[in-house]
Amino acid sequence: MDADELLQLAEQIAREAGELARRRRDEGVRIAATKSALADIVTEADREVEALIRARLTEARPADGFLGEESGAERGESDVTWVVDPIDGTVNYAYGIPHYAVSIAAVTGEPDPEQWTAQAGVVFAPAIAELFRAARESGAWLGADRLAVSQATDAGALIATGFGYDPATHAGDLERVRIVMPLARDLRRAGAASLDLAYVAAGRLDGYFERGLHPWDHAAGALLVTEAGGRVGGAPGGRPGRQMTIAAGPDLYAALDTAIHR
Ligand code: IPD
Repeated sequence: MDADELLQLAEQIAREAGELARRRRDEGVRIAATKSALADIVTEADREVEALIRARLTEARPADGFLGEESGAERGESDVTWVVDPIDGTVNYAYGIPHYAVSIAAVTGEPDPEQWTAQAGVVFAPAIAELFRAARESGAWLGADRLAVSQATDAGALIATGFGYDPATHAGDLERVRIVMPLARDLRRAGAASLDLAYVAAGRLDGYFERGLHPWDHAAGALLVTEAGGRVGGAPGGRPGRQMTIAAGPDLYAALDTAIHR
């Protein structure tokens, strides 16, 4: 198993899938269903794009496992599992905001974010034509530029966050924003977790935190951040997950971790 080969495949499929998503967006978006809450939507394009990604992966690597936002989990016979969000930022997508992405990661070991080792990850924003990529121990890249997380400055940090779809959690989310604001020069809520993580890797954001993420939201983006020299975690000492995800350069990570878990 070669992480660079997995990355090449992920990139090729993400480009094709992203083009399909972009084309479908131009043709008009139809909501197919709601999921955990009325605000948590799935479009016909989410399903079609995931089906395309799954079919391409099955053709190329039939023994691998799959964990996708729309079609669920299937264990493979090899050690590799593909973790896929076909359209991260679905609400942006539905509203015509170009900030959405295809996120594809290849992980080895148990297909569980608490245990897996990420080997390769791609986050592709087709409407902006930016593809962020990383392979384990080969760095994180945007085109020919090697990515590096930002250094802390006295001006305060540009921090992103997100709010899940469940209204019952919003009061807690807002309280966390209040707690974190003294560290911030400003706050962003752009609407696609994979791109929030990619932007931390690229130094476009200094830090990011969110409660409630699913494995497909963070699998590729977390590898981008660590390969760009940053830190990603969750609950104290833990990995990113439903309880919490924090990503930043090492100094800001420590400050966010302390503030959020005080
Ligand atoms: C969502 C986005 C959003 C985040 C939510 C995610 P989806 O993913 O990443 O920014 O706040 O927690 O569920 O539903 O657009 O794939």
